[in-house]
Amino acid sequence: MRILISGASGLLGLNLGLHCLSDHTMIGLVHSHLIKESPFPIHVVDLGEEKTARAVIDQFKPDVLFNCAALADLDACEKDPIRAQRLNAELPGWLAEECDCRSVQLVHISTDAVFDGCKEGKYREEDKTNPLSIYAQTKLQGEKNVLQVNSSALVARVNFYGFSISGKRSLAEVFLNNLREGKSMFGFTDVLFSPLYVIDLVEILLKMVEKQFSGLYHVTSPESQSKYAFGTGIAQRFGLDANLITPIKVADANFLTAPRSQNLVLDPGRVQAALRVNLPGQRQGLDHFYQDFQDGFAQRIYGLQ
Ligand SMILES: NC(=O)c1ccc[n+]([C@@H]2O[C@H](COP(=O)([O-])OP(=O)(O)OC[C@H]3O[C@@H](n4cnc5c(N)ncnc54)[C@H](OP(=O)(O)O)[C@@H]3O)[C@@H](O)[C@H]2O)c1
Repeated sequence: MRILISGASGLLGLNLGLHCLSDHTMIGLVHSHLIKESPFPIHVVDLGEEKTARAVIDQFKPDVLFNCAALADLDACEKDPIRAQRLNAELPGWLAEECDCRSVQLVHISTDAVFDGCKEGKYREEDKTNPLSIYAQTKLQGEKNVLQVNSSALVARVNFYGFSISGKRSLAEVFLNNLREGKSMFGFTDVLFSPLYVIDLVEILLKMVEKQFSGLYHVTSPESQSKYAFGTGIAQRFGLDANLITPIKVADANFLTAPRSQNLVLDPGRVQAALRVNLPGQRQGLDHFYQDFQDGFAQRIYGLQ
């Protein structure tokens, strides 16, 4: 397949590009971060410009577009809601229209943050949304804009971790890099989530594309844990000092701006039933993350900056 990735310098986009390289023709779009010696072609575009964004399908003629471009930093969205609206809400709609006209399969990436976290237990696709932050509001609007105009688009609500070019984009590498340097950290005991290791997520999304899934899916691990437990799990797996992580409640954190849901746990039952597979549990994902680190994958990614 000829696969176009918007947001190819981001955590998901870059891992997607590198992982699919051997089997597919990959083309990446970036904005402010060039990828040094990228193993697949990279083009710089500002997708916040409607005309530019709408032109990329004709320009690159993909079979599939993965829209991984976003303003994905919650606090940055609170500071610049107009940019958040353009990238997270309007851009997905523009791309969805262009893909629909040209029969290009669109995979649009959304978030677990569309819920308010008040439910006991896992959120299903049909549960009522109630986004708490500008990020979550604009991402939810983006989903709606896609699904309204493109009935064959796939919208995946996700949460993932992995290695990024900045070394800071995912909670896992922040824990890992700080712990390796002997630095102390906080871990929230009352925020629950169900992340996948990004390469596992990529493999599942590819299977969904091969089977031409459309509509809304929760694509997360079937198992959840607190962010504190996630951090201590990383410490233990990598043989680092888990005592460097101090357990705290999210209400006691004075370093966050955007309101955050405390239950981010999604139910991937729909995609599991449709694919007839169990998505990786927390231990399985962490083992894969650990093995990739041992195999030098993190250094490979950091070297692309
Ligand atoms: N990380 C998570 O756990 C998580 C959780 C839930 C949902 N998501 C969703 O997953 C998707 C990917 O997230 P991520 O963590 O990989 O994000 P990320 O690392 O912050 O990457 C965002 C990407 O968007 C690009 N971008 C930003 N502004 C742009 C513009 N004006 N024109 C073109 N490209 C632009 C960035 O390009 P430059 O860097 O080159 O500027 C970057 O490649 C997003 O939709 C996010 O909402 C992520």
